[in-house]
Amino acid sequence: MINQRKPIVAANWKMNKTQSEASEFVSAYRKLAAGKGTVDVVIVPPFTALPQTVTALGSQDVIKVGAQNMHWKDSGAYTGEISAMMLRALPVDYVVIGHSERRQYFGETDETVNKKVKAAHKARLKPIVCVGESLEQRDADQVGEVLKRQIEGGLKDLTDRQIGETVVAYEPIWAIGTGRTASPEQAQEAHAFIRKTLSEIAAETANRIRIQYGGSVKPDNMAELISQEDVDGALVGGAALEAESFYGIVKAAAEYVETQK
Ligand code: PGA
Repeated sequence: MINQRKPIVAANWKMNKTQSEASEFVSAYRKLAAGKGTVDVVIVPPFTALPQTVTALGSQDVIKVGAQNMHWKDSGAYTGEISAMMLRALPVDYVVIGHSERRQYFGETDETVNKKVKAAHKARLKPIVCVGESLEQRDADQVGEVLKRQIEGGLKDLTDRQIGETVVAYEPIWAIGTGRTASPEQAQEAHAFIRKTLSEIAAETANRIRIQYGGSVKPDNMAELISQEDVDGALVGGAALEAESFYGIVKAAAEYVETQK
């Protein structure tokens, strides 16, 4: 069956890059990629480099900008936090929510993820919701249980339309920054399970939802990953810090789209 979902590839810079480094990346990337738009590309800089990245991208419609986190309240006495409205005003289009590093180091839970996802939709930001199991959970055969809990908890009480506009990123924790990618078969198995879980909460839209794979994605493993039926793109960390390797990943996704025509 031909996959109708438009791939989405995002560069998660994590706590890397100053404003000027962000501008350098954008100009280097744009020289490489003559924006065709068959793949949605999202750059996700740290908060401080968001305005610069938006400005450097200028008025084009191929590359979007995302934030790495947000608070669920609109405003108030929450020192150190950033709201969805502030991001929307930049403008930013996407926001990564519940990355495993946020869950692991900053105490995020499915409950806080859910509050943030709802606030993001309210502000018309598209959330990229991260889920994924640890190595211990995989070894204990708990992958399905963990993913089901994270999906059901994180996307609780959303409308079908909101779920349809949510991007899910499957990021097995043992594959993040370790150089150890999930095999294409492992990725497909988890993605199919996530889609099945989504169909139980949003039967009409589950087939439209894009599910990214994340965890040591590189230009040379993207082709195989993206060719899996339920893999609709990638959330890339380390390999997205250099314009050339990030472009290699986007290009592999774009080439896959060509083969589907
Ligand atoms: P990685 O990170 O590509 O460096 O493994 C992915 C992520 O954490 O989003």
